[in-house]
Amino acid sequence: MRKYLLIFVAVFLSLSATAQKFDQLAKTPPMGWNSWNKFHCDVSEALIMQAADAMVSTGMKDAGYEYIVIDDCWQVSRDENGEIVADKDRFPHGMKYVADYVHSKGLKFGIYSSAGTVTCQRRPGGFGHEYQDARTYARYGVDYLKYDWCGSTTQDAKSSYTNMSNAIKAAGRPIVFSICEWGSNKPWEWAANVGHLWRTTGDISDNWNSMLDIFNKQKDLARYAGPGKWNDPDMLEVGNGGMTTEEYRTHFSLWCMLASPLMAGNDLQNMTPETKSILLNKEMIAIDQDSLGRQATCYRDNVYYQIWVKTLSNNEKAVCLLNTSDEKKSVLVDFSLLASIRGGGRGFGGPPPAAPAGGTPGMPGVPGAAGAQRTQGAQGVATAGQAVPAAGQGMPGGMGPGGPGGQRGFTPMTLENYKVRDVWEHKDLVLKETSMYVELLPHSVKVYRFVRK
Ligand code: GLA
Repeated sequence: MRKYLLIFVAVFLSLSATAQKFDQLAKTPPMGWNSWNKFHCDVSEALIMQAADAMVSTGMKDAGYEYIVIDDCWQVSRDENGEIVADKDRFPHGMKYVADYVHSKGLKFGIYSSAGTVTCQRRPGGFGHEYQDARTYARYGVDYLKYDWCGSTTQDAKSSYTNMSNAIKAAGRPIVFSICEWGSNKPWEWAANVGHLWRTTGDISDNWNSMLDIFNKQKDLARYAGPGKWNDPDMLEVGNGGMTTEEYRTHFSLWCMLASPLMAGNDLQNMTPETKSILLNKEMIAIDQDSLGRQATCYRDNVYYQIWVKTLSNNEKAVCLLNTSDEKKSVLVDFSLLASIRGGGRGFGGPPPAAPAGGTPGMPGVPGAAGAQRTQGAQGVATAGQAVPAAGQGMPGGMGPGGPGGQRGFTPMTLENYKVRDVWEHKDLVLKETSMYVELLPHSVKVYRFVRK
């Protein structure tokens, strides 16, 4: 009897150490709006309700944006029972009232706390109150919880987030669990069963260098992403004023290539036509939301430009050419070569193998450059460890045409069976030759979708 009891206790303990997240949520990257990037602590009932209104009236809801998330500063204290207390001046009707309003618009409601004793703005954190808070959030009608890492001092990240994940499960309301420990403890290695998305880096700032720096840190993480488990390179800054329209278009495109959560972080009530044209580009959003859930892999990383490939469902793919330089570039793009390169499969996403001695023999898809700003691309200026073999050489990860790995039964793409669509121009390319010069403005992208004919 004692033996059985011990076995029971051991099984129970091992189960309780395992996260039990709601696994039917976030099958595609979550889309929505979060108050932090634009409004910081200046949140209120009116602001959130207006954001919900604007989400509908601007067409964002129709484009797929769903969650309205209040970030830090909605909470002020705990009462004598340990219940979290919302700021009564800013949320006079309480959080359930706001949640009900958001739901009445056909949207979903998100909230924020931290795994530590305090949030990053020194409001009460969730530590020691996980099960109580999860029940409270369920009562409010919360659908999404962003859980930060401030005030955590000596806590273990995996067990802290597992604890909250289990608390959410126990409370019984399906809530998307957004882990925000800034990539400090490599959540991609342990969070797939704990949460639905996890931040991979520190906070984004509204400028080109910050955005690009975060983007470059996603290179090795593609293998960890998939339906219900997403790398989160942080919320969007599109429309907040610190980047040019071109740079915002790039920011949005790169996030979509990465199958990132798309959480707008701007003032939805006052969007310029340019901001709207970016956030509402449904063709770009479709690449982000593709049901296969693959994150793009970096096919080429040159001094001035990068090529990224995202495998899509229906044997399609998206290719993004990124000009990281401060100058306009004119590059000769060979679309039949671009057609032949493949995105990484599930098991792919690590650094590509080093280039053969002497550098890369040519630039697949982008063999050279033209005009005054001729790039050094023709013979490849790839840095060690980042260069990849030319398309024809194949690659162990399955990036070469017809190479092993990736999807089984993959038919190589050619320009005979695929058309090439420019996702920002919203039109199919008319290719007289298979190669064409393409102008890439400074800090800009071209995104092509290879669509089955
Ligand atoms: C941290 C998070 C941000 C934001 C702030 C709020 O910095 O990473 O996204 O939530 O806290 O205080």
